[in-house]
Amino acid sequence: MDDRFEMIRNTHQASKKTDLSLWNEAAAREVRSFHETLSGYRPTPLVPLAGQAEKLGISGLYVKDESSRFGLNAFKALGASFAMGTAAKDWMPGEKHTFVTATDGNHGRGVAWMARQMGQKAVVYLPEGTAKSRLHNILAEGADAYITDLNYDDAVRLAASKEKEEGWILVQDTAWDGYERIPKLIMKGYLTMALEAYEELEAFGTRRKTRPTHIFLQAGVGSMAAAVAAFFLNVYREQPPVIVIVEPKKADCFFRSIRKGEGKPVAVTGKMDTMMAGLACGEPSALAWPILRDHAYAFISCHDCYAADGMRLLGKPLPGDKRIISGESGAVGPGVLSALMKDPELAEDKEALKLNEESVVLCFSTEGATDPEHYRAVVENGKSN
Ligand SMILES: Cc1ncc(COP(=O)(O)O)c(C=O)c1O
Repeated sequence: MDDRFEMIRNTHQASKKTDLSLWNEAAAREVRSFHETLSGYRPTPLVPLAGQAEKLGISGLYVKDESSRFGLNAFKALGASFAMGTAAKDWMPGEKHTFVTATDGNHGRGVAWMARQMGQKAVVYLPEGTAKSRLHNILAEGADAYITDLNYDDAVRLAASKEKEEGWILVQDTAWDGYERIPKLIMKGYLTMALEAYEELEAFGTRRKTRPTHIFLQAGVGSMAAAVAAFFLNVYREQPPVIVIVEPKKADCFFRSIRKGEGKPVAVTGKMDTMMAGLACGEPSALAWPILRDHAYAFISCHDCYAADGMRLLGKPLPGDKRIISGESGAVGPGVLSALMKDPELAEDKEALKLNEESVVLCFSTEGATDPEHYRAVVENGKSN
């Protein structure tokens, strides 16, 4: 086996030390009532893929399709909007504000969109190599936006420096020592997605077996994965699902941190050259790290070809299954699941995860085709890296 696919079982998980009680159903309901006040709020669909589940030899596969979220093609605005709305209500002095952030694209589009809703300004920095379509989508929301020559983590440092120099308000979707209030609100914002999926699963429940035994969550800085994992571990406390964290090989900071085994996060530096732009983050969020370290069952580091497989699996469905247009960072979970179920070389990993014909798997397709040209190259023309 080459190193295109590596999995590590998490020995820390037994401790379950980090408290998850904050990420409960009542908190999620409160967050959702905020989102319900925003124009264009509608729950996104949870899509049952019965044909694919049967083909893979599992009992159920459910994919939450975030491509229609607020008309922005990704889940991300859930976090930015909740943080910015709460900040405006609770602590922002004065009338006119400039919000600043760094982004692979989706988060910045959410910040720009929410700033426009609030009649405020946004400035957005994108890392080197960002697709032009992502820049244009942010500019179209009326924000100032720039593609820098920095990687994601350095672009975050640039945005943070502007808070000090210009007095702008930093809305970053990752936390570090001394910067936790906004990222915690952003993580809370993601609970709406988890709550919707939970309710949709329950609603399917009378007809199908829907309690997830496994949840595959892709991680950049880990804010989304930690919030969603914490929510489901709370609501399914009696029979907790197996949480599997998936990262691109070139930006596998959680995987490497767990492998190092010292309980502390380690960073991936340099150019993180992966098609999964939303996951190209080299430093775990300080809020997400303890949650995933203490509660995720396994971490997978994989080559881009698994994301490409996932995009095709969702984009060219089996007869009877609905099509999901899923972008590079959205599709890697189903891509990895499919490999685990089909590739004999991964049999040991499949067994370690206890994936079998009884399994019910939940995945989150967190974006649509946010880079349409690349989407076509992968889904129509078979591009794999
Ligand atoms: C489409 C998509 N999925 C997943 C993620 C990962 O979220 P996080 O950085 O919170 O781990 C991102 C982050 O930007 C994203 O854009």
